[in-house]
Amino acid sequence: MIQQYILDIIYIAGALSFVFGIKLLGKPESAKKGNFIAAVGMGLSVFGTIFLFKGEGDVHLKNLEWIFGGLIIGSVIGTMMAKRVQMTQMPQMVSFFNGMGGACAALISLVEYHHATTPQIVASYNVITDGVPQIIQVVSDIHPMEIGKAIVIYLGLIIGSISFAGSMLAYLKLDEKIKDKVLPLQQVINIGLMAVILGIAACSIFGWVAIPYSLYVLLTLSLLYGVLFVMPIGGADMPVVISLLNSFTGVAAALGGFLYDNKVMLFGGILVGSAGTLLTVLMCKAMNRSLLNVLIGNFGGGASKGEARAITGTIKEITKADAASLMKYSKKVVIVPGYGLAVAQAQHICHELEQQLEANDVEVKYAIHPVAGRMPGHMNVLLAESNVSYDKLVEMDEINAEFKTTDVVLVVGANDVVNPAAKNDPASPIYGMPILNVEEATTVIVMKRSMKAGYAGIENELFYNNKTRMLFGDAKKSITELVSELKNA
Ligand code: TAP
Repeated sequence: MIQQYILDIIYIAGALSFVFGIKLLGKPESAKKGNFIAAVGMGLSVFGTIFLFKGEGDVHLKNLEWIFGGLIIGSVIGTMMAKRVQMTQMPQMVSFFNGMGGACAALISLVEYHHATTPQIVASYNVITDGVPQIIQVVSDIHPMEIGKAIVIYLGLIIGSISFAGSMLAYLKLDEKIKDKVLPLQQVINIGLMAVILGIAACSIFGWVAIPYSLYVLLTLSLLYGVLFVMPIGGADMPVVISLLNSFTGVAAALGGFLYDNKVMLFGGILVGSAGTLLTVLMCKAMNRSLLNVLIGNFGGGASKGEARAITGTIKEITKADAASLMKYSKKVVIVPGYGLAVAQAQHICHELEQQLEANDVEVKYAIHPVAGRMPGHMNVLLAESNVSYDKLVEMDEINAEFKTTDVVLVVGANDVVNPAAKNDPASPIYGMPILNVEEATTVIVMKRSMKAGYAGIENELFYNNKTRMLFGDAKKSITELVSELKNA
């Protein structure tokens, strides 16, 4: 009994650590601490369950060698991955881990289905009969599964499998190993497949029709749906799908918590599920998309209508010396960081450039697009790492009103988030996505290495605009040279 009380207290501490951890994750400077606190809470809950939990018949957890084997292998692989991962590969790693969460939830459903439908050993006793030692095992009856339990098992399987397959595909896409692909009648296929999945699940749960191996059929179809659901989503729409998959994994984990009547698992799952859902809503808003479109796969290439508009104009380059003096004699400079800033690891030197300009009485701000980079908050995290003051990071809606009064916009490795095709070209896959209106400034200097496209794979007419000057080269190297030009000027 006392063990149960201790376990309950551990679970409450675990749950509080998740809430507190998430709160601290809200700011880059406290994020490390938040992650650590939540990890300690999770560790306590896991080890508390292993050593203190007692199931039916007052029996402790069994199969400890499997549990510890899994823990050790998982910890070694996780630590190695975390140590090796480059900052630019973090989004892929987050997707991969999210997929693992979904896979765990699906496996829980598979295991628990068999527990619920096959007789279990609920207790075992050592007895001596006629001087001969014997083991007597008490076996449970086979009950038809309660409907509530069946719903939880089937939903956990479906959502967990979709999340696993979808996250693995997102991982490969973010790693640029595979490209978006839209099948003919993609929406019809996706809606049809989902209807079949729900139909089979309903028949099995309510016992309307006996479908042989229904669980494995559902597993296969849900994995397929995960692939088909993410496959066409591309262009600039991946952020929405990533946060949606995140919320799926949370919901699937919460269902596992229901199944085991484990409050901390339920609590953690609900937190992840609701945080993912909120993020999805915010991302949809930022991308000007409806969630329904995400769910039926009407995204990316699928959203574009007809041929993209041909771009006219010429590319005009600028030297570092000219760029430096243009910024030095400006009143206001806005820096637009993008994925290239992360690739170049140019955040520290960017902060130095900002300080140099401010030393020359230039007002400097950063324009933060909600999906710049490859993960939510990517630019905020990078810039906070180099101690850029938080009040200099201005969100898209606010900074868009300021471009008209900006002398120079310095685009550092950003592309899609400043592509005017989102406003002007209905045939573009990013049409409708709100962007940073940098072309409203007096001059735009774009730093990138070549004329290659960004994540959405489309040309950018901003580079051909009369106001734009291209500064080709690695962003870190170019900014380092700009800083020394400013120092020597
Ligand atoms: P992108 O459109 O991906 O453009 C990045 C640009 O950086 C590229 O054009 C590249 O051009 C340049 N670049 C790369 N390495 C560089 C370096 N070392 N030095 C200088 N430039 C470099 O980036 P963005 O504007 O930040 O937009 C983000 C895109 O990713 C959006 O389409 C968004 O939807 C998508 N996405 C975002 C997320 C989240 S949650 N943020 C998740 C998944 C996908 P060069 O190769 O010519 O240098």
